[in-house]
Amino acid sequence: MTDTSRISVSAHYTGYIWYKHGLSAKNFITDTGRRINMIAAPINAFLRLVGGADIDIFLLQRHTVIDHKVEELIEKEGVTQIVELACGLSPRGYRFRKKYPHIRYVECDLPGIVAKKRELLDGTDLPGQELRVCDVFNTAGPESIKGILESLDPQQKTIIVTEGLVNYFELPVIREVWSRMADALKRFPQGWYITELYPDFADHPSYRYVKFAQKTVGFLTKGDWPLHYPSDEAIQKGFQEDGFNDVEVIDPASYYGKLPLLPEVKIKTLVRIIKCSVSR
Ligand SMILES: C[S@@+](CC[C@H](N)C(=O)[O-])C[C@H]1O[C@@H](n2cnc3c(N)ncnc32)[C@H](O)[C@@H]1O
Repeated sequence: MTDTSRISVSAHYTGYIWYKHGLSAKNFITDTGRRINMIAAPINAFLRLVGGADIDIFLLQRHTVIDHKVEELIEKEGVTQIVELACGLSPRGYRFRKKYPHIRYVECDLPGIVAKKRELLDGTDLPGQELRVCDVFNTAGPESIKGILESLDPQQKTIIVTEGLVNYFELPVIREVWSRMADALKRFPQGWYITELYPDFADHPSYRYVKFAQKTVGFLTKGDWPLHYPSDEAIQKGFQEDGFNDVEVIDPASYYGKLPLLPEVKIKTLVRIIKCSVSR
């Protein structure tokens, strides 16, 4: 099994960003997150100046659109079970449980982050959050995607969410995870997967700054952070090949003016949200 716990430090940073932009409560922040935010401040200022947007903007764009797509599935399709893999210190589970008390929201991550989040959540006004250890590379057992989904009610419509995970791995490696997800979701009457993806848009006007941001994330997490797929069409085809149907590749710009919390930038967007489904 591959140890990917080096990536967990990034959860402290994104956890801080959600708080900084009013999406979270104080409980979710850590000293590490605050420190990385200070280190990132000059890098973000540079990116804003030369590239027209900073790392926070692309984090907020993905977070807001993922929230919106999950809400739509709860409200329009009657989804009642959500599994967020690699949840980090994200407040989404907390916020959704507050807004939709009838849903079962299972948050999963590696053991270190699960322990940290349990400690942080203990101080909130909403105890009882389901936090489970799951390594997305486990292929069997209770700490695998399959094991987590097998512990849920097979009669309920279910979503898997990942955010800030998939670009830490080479494409063939993460595609193998996606195929296992698509298989495991087939046990439900309907299943969806929602994630964000940073594509390799070589013709993007700010491509060299994207490469700079890519190196920054790689440096912070002591590894690579590869971009995936050169176009929306290639993304769609890839997810279909991995076993998903109705693959929507969403440009956050398509929601400009429609989602109040979505930050808008003049330059072309760099992130895509993928929503796809499986049915048995
Ligand atoms: C950038 S953080 C994102 C956290 C959160 N989703 C967010 O957006 O704030 C990446 C997360 O992936 C988790 N992670 C890394 N390798 C993993 C693996 N093999 N299985 C499950 N989670 C993993 C890390 O522990 C970390 O919490």
